[in-house]
Amino acid sequence: MIRADIRSLSAYHVPDSENMIKLDAMENPYPLPDELRTKLADHLASVDINRYPDADMQSLRQKIAARDGLSADQALLGNGSDEIIQMLIMAVDAGACAVPKPSFAMYELIARWLKRPVASVPLKADFSLDAEAFLRVCSREKAEIVFLSCPNNPTGNMWPRKSIEYIVENFTGLVVIDEAYEPFSDRTHTDLIAPNVIVLRTFSKLGWAGLRLGYVLGDAKIIGHLNKVRLPYNLNSLAQASADFLLDHIDVFEKQAKKICSERQRLIKALDSMANVEVYPSQANFILLRVADAQAAFNGLLERGILVKNMRDSDGLLQNCLRVTIGLPEENKRFLHVLKEILP
Ligand SMILES: Cc1ncc(COP(=O)(O)O)c(C=O)c1O
Repeated sequence: MIRADIRSLSAYHVPDSENMIKLDAMENPYPLPDELRTKLADHLASVDINRYPDADMQSLRQKIAARDGLSADQALLGNGSDEIIQMLIMAVDAGACAVPKPSFAMYELIARWLKRPVASVPLKADFSLDAEAFLRVCSREKAEIVFLSCPNNPTGNMWPRKSIEYIVENFTGLVVIDEAYEPFSDRTHTDLIAPNVIVLRTFSKLGWAGLRLGYVLGDAKIIGHLNKVRLPYNLNSLAQASADFLLDHIDVFEKQAKKICSERQRLIKALDSMANVEVYPSQANFILLRVADAQAAFNGLLERGILVKNMRDSDGLLQNCLRVTIGLPEENKRFLHVLKEILP
């Protein structure tokens, strides 16, 4: 009854983080300010949850697209950008899905659920992307869609713009530039939007992870096609109303993102000064670091109430790497203190 390949999978595991300093999931650590919280509650009180949500979300799409100077018909909203990744893979022609490796795990996972072949192209040891080699694999494996996480999760680096341009200029399938970490990076790629180039974003990292709201910006024609595989009412009424309200206060979240970026630089500097830690550059709200024994470090942090992500990668590029989300200043301080204490 259930496909053999599905039976052999494990469900997505989310570790228990109760009472922990949670530095594993790239969330914004700043809670919603009290004043906004009260106003949001008032706003939500008027939502008619006995009715289905607004199915078309024209005004919310307009509000979101306008932030990038685009129009409502150039934006499609998803229940998190994960849902949009699923729509994209469902909608493209049969053919491989090409992804750099390591990159965001959901590209490969969703492709496998949908029985799409995956062509993963290893990054170099310094996590740089060989655009020519990438395109060679795309052509050999007859790729129809590529995902480029800019900046890349889990490595944190941003590939040079000329590499992205080179892929955009030479790949004839669909290029998805995933800007999940755009609020913390120094550039965007919306100017590259074309009939086969789209930009994927999410509000999760900016501070609304609990709302589940992602979006894709692109050519109106492709957005129209993607809209045909969107489940009706994919965003619930409370999420829509919250987003509508919070977008009017987006400066609050943008200021928090700036604070996160300066904390990131402080943390990188501190980690860089530790002899037993190799730290990689980051344009995201997390840092990748390598230690002698990541499992031991992970366990040591966990025992002292700090949850980070232990990266395990079959090709070894992420061997002994930990991915640490930037937390509140006091959480980062505690993390550094504990790390110093437990590293040999
Ligand atoms: C590169 C990248 N894309 C997309 C997502 C999914 O974000 P969400 O589904 O919360 O919008 C993530 C989450 O970690 C990510 O790292």
